[in-house]
Amino acid sequence: MEVKLKIWRYDAYSGDRELRDYELEAPEWACLLDVLDLIKDQQDGTLAYRKSCRMMICGSCGMRMDGRAILACKERMKPIVDRGHVPVISAMGNMPIVKDLVVDMDPFWSKIRRMKPWLEPGYDEVLERERIVSQQQMNAIQKEALCIMCGCCVSECNSMESDPEFFGPAALAKGFRFVGDTRDQASIERLEDYNDEHGIWDCTRCYFCNERCPKGVDPRDAIAKLGAESVKEGIDRDMGAKHAKWFVKSAETTGWLRETELVPKTQGIVAAVKQTKFAIGLAKKGKVPPPIPPHVAADVGESRALRQLVREQGREGAQGIIQGERGLARIEHTDAGGARRDAPEVTPGEEPPKAEG
Ligand code: SF4
Ligand code: SF4
Ligand code: FES
Repeated sequence: MEVKLKIWRYDAYSGDRELRDYELEAPEWACLLDVLDLIKDQQDGTLAYRKSCRMMICGSCGMRMDGRAILACKERMKPIVDRGHVPVISAMGNMPIVKDLVVDMDPFWSKIRRMKPWLEPGYDEVLERERIVSQQQMNAIQKEALCIMCGCCVSECNSMESDPEFFGPAALAKGFRFVGDTRDQASIERLEDYNDEHGIWDCTRCYFCNERCPKGVDPRDAIAKLGAESVKEGIDRDMGAKHAKWFVKSAETTGWLRETELVPKTQGIVAAVKQTKFAIGLAKKGKVPPPIPPHVAADVGESRALRQLVREQGREGAQGIIQGERGLARIEHTDAGGARRDAPEVTPGEEPPKAEG
């Protein structure tokens, strides 16, 4: 097939940047990485990009196609060629470019290291026999354990764009991989650390990391689990945690979000007093419902029953966040580019739902 593509070339030494056109013959089975190899081999040996495994395992070939982060070895070219589309290839975002499609991953790795990505078993002696972890216990972290540290999620993270110090989706997903591991005895220390400035509560919940992760790790879900675990353990000093707690309290007591009380409950009384002028302005426009008596939804009983169910089932903390296996389906190659979003959620160990009809 005849493949056309454009590549943003960049030289960090000279600062030169140029969008170059390429046109070449490639076999129909070629993925983007194969095409880059052909270009480098036949047309331009100076093109720089990273690769290793060629099978979505090593995480080396992260880059952007038409502005979205992808793995070059996962992206099949045939459907793109069939559409007559000419994709634009560029380096990942949120990381400094070294040359062409190669970015400096040092900031990425330093954040991963900060998560202390190893088990802290809490004992020094050698056990007489191996410690058995049940399938159910591993299910809690099975998605996070799929991370190949490609950086695609970091490339797309909105919060990192405004605050490069934000720990970021990959590091926090790695953090939950250990917080959620029953063999780890340092989860409280870890949660304390991840609740620091630039930590879990700085995520804007844009879900771009879930959208772009080529391995179905769903890092935003991991961050939600870290938040839920923190609140469960009483680590709620951050405004984000207080905010989340008030949402739950509001829903449980009235079935609504009691917005008028949100500022004092989240930022504290002093900060709320400072906002008085703004609040009066809102009140004049009818935007502030009187907090007393609180408006209670007609079916508030359902909301309270749900909360009770969460308590009875012990689903406070990370257990309350649904952990499915749909993410795994995204690893599959399809003609649509690998994503099979219609695949049903299946909890490992359970039968998949029967097809209708
Ligand atoms: S979470 Fe996904 S996108 Fe992010 S580094 Fe891991 S595999 Fe890559
Ligand atoms: S959901 Fe949070 S971590 Fe994920 S990309 Fe958005 S801001 Fe970043
Ligand atoms: S080359 Fe290893 S993930 Fe693409």
